[in-house]
Amino acid sequence: MGNRLTCSKCLMICLVATLIIGCYLASFPIHSDLPALPKPAKYEKVLNKLHKKHLAVLVPFRDRFEELLEFVPHMYSFLNKQKIPFHIFVIQQKDSNRFNRASLINVGFLFTKNDFDYIAMHDVDLLPINDDLKYDYPEDGPYHISSPKTHPKYHYDTFIGGILLVKNEHYELVKGMSNNYWGWGLEDDEFYVRLKDAGLTVKRPENIATGPENTFKHIHDKTYRRRDMRKCYNQREVTRRRDRVTGLHDVAYKLWSRHNVTIDSLPITVLNVELLCNKSVTPWCQCPDPVKVKTK
Ligand SMILES: *[C@@H]1O[C@H](CO)[C@@H](O)[C@H](O)[C@H]1NC(C)=O
Ligand SMILES: *[C@@H]1O[C@H](CO)[C@@H](O)[C@H](O)[C@H]1NC(C)=O
Repeated sequence: MGNRLTCSKCLMICLVATLIIGCYLASFPIHSDLPALPKPAKYEKVLNKLHKKHLAVLVPFRDRFEELLEFVPHMYSFLNKQKIPFHIFVIQQKDSNRFNRASLINVGFLFTKNDFDYIAMHDVDLLPINDDLKYDYPEDGPYHISSPKTHPKYHYDTFIGGILLVKNEHYELVKGMSNNYWGWGLEDDEFYVRLKDAGLTVKRPENIATGPENTFKHIHDKTYRRRDMRKCYNQREVTRRRDRVTGLHDVAYKLWSRHNVTIDSLPITVLNVELLCNKSVTPWCQCPDPVKVKTK
């Protein structure tokens, strides 16, 4: 009995001593005054390869150089905070046809699909500024970053323009985007119907505390850069309908060159693309000059 008591006393003393020494050691300021060490880059890379999906940011583009100068540094700082492995691809349309955002995205996808896991279709003039907008891999379905609740301009329920994340498998499942949309607008609405027909549900960020005024910085100057909203031939009629014919498989283009460019030392890739228009199918890829209306 006596021995056992002494033994438990020993144990108690031991425990108390450990506690005191432990507390004493812990009170030394080991980390607090030292700057955080940068993580070894190689380790980071291996980690990314193992766990993280790679994002291709596809930016359909024409003549918006000053917007690109602001876009690239902004996206680097925004996406690095989220530790998203990404690369920016500027898909520049180099031909005399009207701008075709959807076909440029198709070309960008074909160019990046083997090296990246998902795409962001990204307007160059829409800069995310709320860090709660997460550019993570959209496993379950397309993820609309610039939701109608927060987009500076568009607020209808089925709007999916601006910035949309799609994983490669889903983009291929819906056969990409229609190639019929020359000129500004509606290609994203047609894409919405493709997603819906394929049974995919578009998800959006929830619990975003900011609104249309302060979730994005919209750097588009519409007085300086007029949108091409012309409609000619039977464009209005055709582009209001779902296109079950064209897409990723038949986008007609020539890739003229690829450039590795840096902006403020940040690397991006510029693809110079000529889009080929079959005028017997989509004559509105070039509208005739407007006929001067005679005034009375
Ligand atoms: C651009 O970078 C890619 C990937 O690093 C490389 O394969 C390609 O050769 C480079 N092209 C030019 C023109 O430097
Ligand atoms: C343009 O489209 C028409 C109708 O589908 C087709 O017969 C023709 O071969 C196409 N032309 C070119 C140059 O692809």
